[in-house]
Amino acid sequence: MRVTVSRKAHFNSAHRLYRKDWSMEKNNSVFGKCNNPNYHGHNYELIASVTGEIDVETGFVLDVKILKNIIKEEVEDAFDHKNLNLDVPEFENLNPTVENIAVVIHKKIKSRLASNLDLEVVLYETPRNFVTYSG
Ligand code: NI
Repeated sequence: MRVTVSRKAHFNSAHRLYRKDWSMEKNNSVFGKCNNPNYHGHNYELIASVTGEIDVETGFVLDVKILKNIIKEEVEDAFDHKNLNLDVPEFENLNPTVENIAVVIHKKIKSRLASNLDLEVVLYETPRNFVTYSG
């Protein structure tokens, strides 16, 4: 039986959406307020869902304490109260859109899971705007 185990998490981060190789005018026309040079913040909500077979001995797909610790180390410690553009190496040359943040989070968490487990990441940038990435 394949079952999905999910864990919610939260982090606050600042970012700016722009390309260094574009003019201010072009960045403003594409990214609007998100190109504010002084950055702006979001309250990100993450749902990480791990799907796999139930272990017959433990009854777990994976121990949710393990998933909680992976999210703490890979996402909360790395992103919470950080400026994504300036403080997080993954975004040094990658625009920190909610799409790209979800892909980076997926890669970081997936690298810590057994290879027989599937991972889906849902990331909310606002209560109404969210993306889904499954690799
Ligand atoms: Ni933004």
